[in-house]
Amino acid sequence: MDKNSTSYTVIFAAGVCLVCGAAVASAAVGLHSRQETNKIVDRKSKVLAAAGLLPENATADLITKLYAERVVPQVYTLKSGQPAADIDAATYSMQAEMKDPAHSQVAPPNAAQVARLPEHGVIYEIKDEGKTASLVLPVEGKGLWSTLYGFLALDKNTVDIKGLIFYQHGETPGLGGEVDNPAWQALWDGRKAFDSSFTPKIQVIKGKAGAPATDPYDVDGLSGATITSRGVTHLLQYWLGEQGFGPVLKGYRSNRK
Ligand SMILES: Cc1cc2nc3c(=O)[nH]c(=O)nc-3n(C[C@H](O)[C@H](O)[C@H](O)COP(=O)(O)O)c2cc1C
Repeated sequence: MDKNSTSYTVIFAAGVCLVCGAAVASAAVGLHSRQETNKIVDRKSKVLAAAGLLPENATADLITKLYAERVVPQVYTLKSGQPAADIDAATYSMQAEMKDPAHSQVAPPNAAQVARLPEHGVIYEIKDEGKTASLVLPVEGKGLWSTLYGFLALDKNTVDIKGLIFYQHGETPGLGGEVDNPAWQALWDGRKAFDSSFTPKIQVIKGKAGAPATDPYDVDGLSGATITSRGVTHLLQYWLGEQGFGPVLKGYRSNRK
């Protein structure tokens, strides 16, 4: 065939497309299970990070080992606060349940803009020599551009905050994206989630907060990102409240170890 002909060019281009397409498709299929494994390890690392248990530069193997040793997920019925013994916590997904109309409902209007209310929720109990030392709660809610997904770690007394980490969001780097800044993340340890009557009180303020001992309910605002900051307040107060993990946390205060 004449290499300068139009049909040669078209056939050559089609051949290149076919080969490249097949290569991309087989890479996507071939790497799928590795991507899923990485996602699971990443989620485990964020639970550990929220609880302050993630060593620097931890490998996937170390994360998996630490998680297996220290973390026990438990599923609860949110409304009653009681354990849902029939649900396997290892495979349960709160986000999947929120999309399932049989096991979730439209949430009443709320400042966190959580759209659907799941029947259940998972709490990651962090163990220390077999006893529950702290609790990690999944939290989510709207910022400016996106839904922020994260983990809030509380002491076993359910009041003292150990840490807050977001593992997924689409806020602007340098503005709302500063939720990922380790300096801001470090401000949460030692604050208090609830006041003395167990009403959620923690909030991100505009400006600078005092030290945890004198200003336990306030955390520094993200400068130039008041909407994301407000979103963080709303989502924490929502998941700590009656629609979220409030009844489950009440159970921890009254009768769980
Ligand atoms: C390109 C662009 C990206 C922005 N990203 C964010 C953001 O991620 N989070 C946020 O709260 N505000 C963001 N803002 C700013 C908001 O529009 C708004 O001005 C700001 O939240 C007000 O905060 P301030 O009162 O601290 O200035 C962005 C603005 C622009 C122009």
